[in-house]
Amino acid sequence: MNGALELEMKNISKSFAGVSALEGVDFAVRPGEVHALLGANGAGKSTLMKILSGAYGSDAGTISIGDRRLSIASPADAKAEGIHCVYQEVDTSLVPHLTVAENMMLDRIAAGKGPMWMNWAAIGREAEAVLARIGSRIPVRRRADELTLAEKQIVLIARVLVQEAKYVILDEPTAPLSLEEADRLFGIMDELKRQGIGIVFISHRLPEVKQVSDRITVMRDGKVVLSEPAADVATGDIVRAMLGRSFEEEYPKTTVPIGETLFEVEDIAAGHRVRGVNLTVRRGEIVAVVGLVGAGKTELSRLLFGADPAERGTVRIAGRTANAASPADAVRAGIALVPEERRKEGILVGSSVLHNLSLPILRQLSRIGFISKPAERGHAEDMIGRLGIRTASSGQPTGFLSGGNQQKVAIGKWMATDAEVFLFDEPTKGVDVGAKRDIFRIIGELAGAGKGVLYLTCEFAEALGLADRILVMCDGAIVKSFDRGDVTMEELLYYASAGKEDLA
Ligand SMILES: Nc1ncnc2c1ncn2[C@@H]1O[C@H](COP(=O)(O)OP(=O)(O)OP(=O)(O)O)[C@@H](O)[C@H]1O
Ligand SMILES: [Mg+2]
Repeated sequence: MNGALELEMKNISKSFAGVSALEGVDFAVRPGEVHALLGANGAGKSTLMKILSGAYGSDAGTISIGDRRLSIASPADAKAEGIHCVYQEVDTSLVPHLTVAENMMLDRIAAGKGPMWMNWAAIGREAEAVLARIGSRIPVRRRADELTLAEKQIVLIARVLVQEAKYVILDEPTAPLSLEEADRLFGIMDELKRQGIGIVFISHRLPEVKQVSDRITVMRDGKVVLSEPAADVATGDIVRAMLGRSFEEEYPKTTVPIGETLFEVEDIAAGHRVRGVNLTVRRGEIVAVVGLVGAGKTELSRLLFGADPAERGTVRIAGRTANAASPADAVRAGIALVPEERRKEGILVGSSVLHNLSLPILRQLSRIGFISKPAERGHAEDMIGRLGIRTASSGQPTGFLSGGNQQKVAIGKWMATDAEVFLFDEPTKGVDVGAKRDIFRIIGELAGAGKGVLYLTCEFAEALGLADRILVMCDGAIVKSFDRGDVTMEELLYYASAGKEDLA
């Protein structure tokens, strides 16, 4: 480990259309270390890393390796220096119909280096060897669209190894992963460290940050506010630095009277992913469905919302049949869904924050047939305030917001609808600790207003804190049900992973 090889950013500044996103930021990563980059949604983490990896230019500041100044004007420049970034949107970074091996060698094939570009057997062998370096045995001939999110991520990491990465930036790699999958990723990060690769690690899950990092830097409002060896900082210090105030990470539960049965699902099924699910949600009740990634939670929510067709089963709202053939149908029947993949389904990234927030309630806002602009703006501004959405203005295109703030827009969008039943699929993915609490408060308000909430999550702690009832899903079926207070984290994990044996 040669100290002279430190990759160093100094005094970096950047603004977007006059709004400052980074101000005089210093940041560095050494070979063989994991340097965590933390901060609330919109603090500037991704922007800083986009500058380092050549996706954005900076307005001021320098980047160097040891004593050598780099000039990084494009991703290709960064890659030539061995700097690679695995972005937040893993899903869009692979070519779906190409194999694992082809995806890994993509850059090389595109660069047309050497005669090997047509030698598929050699490509397959090399891909296997690189995957083996990080202890993975993903079949290299499998198509990318047949991989789980966790596998896609491993392929993306393997892809940067193929290109002889020296510094790897992982922007929220664990957000879509289960705890088990995240652990596997940490094993891979350890392996990379041993090979002398410097890693920048961005995450909102603070326990894992403490576990895997050597150094921790916290940003707030585009500036560095803390930078210390990981062993020297407590989680409380990190949170205080992130939010600028002290804060207990907790899941406040508001107790509301629970009424009659509102939402009934009977024997809903589609293929192997959802195999005859029964559940009910009463008015004012928050029912959590917990399960590991791949248990079928997202598939279940999509069936209930009419986004995918069900093979059989009945859905009822307040006694009325509400089987939805399409999302529009579901909305008419009174069902709202905050989906997991916010960029693909949750929001229109090209439209303004204002437009996204008012989309589902346009009818409500336009009492006499036309849309009242002031009402629309008033509503949007109210949601921006309630959810703490960080945006320059309500007219800003939603795609320009930070990842976590886009998620808040996806949630805010449904809050004011006249839906009766709210489905939340992993709503806190990628949101910071402060915003998480705002989201829980709003879910509590929905329950207080007599709505039914179905909360699908792989974060067991959230379910334990928030839900009146917890259903455990494993392999497409609900295997166990617990009342609030009757179950521990360990039991949930047991049934979520071993539920099948228990059923048999
Ligand atoms: N292309 C862009 N145009 C305009 N503003 C942008 C653009 N990219 C980022 N911003 C703004 O810069 C600020 C920092 O965003 P950034 O994505 O770096 O945050 P982040 O720390 O990664 O947050 P998160 O945890 O939510 O991912 C935000 O206010 C964001 O709206
Ligand atoms: Mg980000």
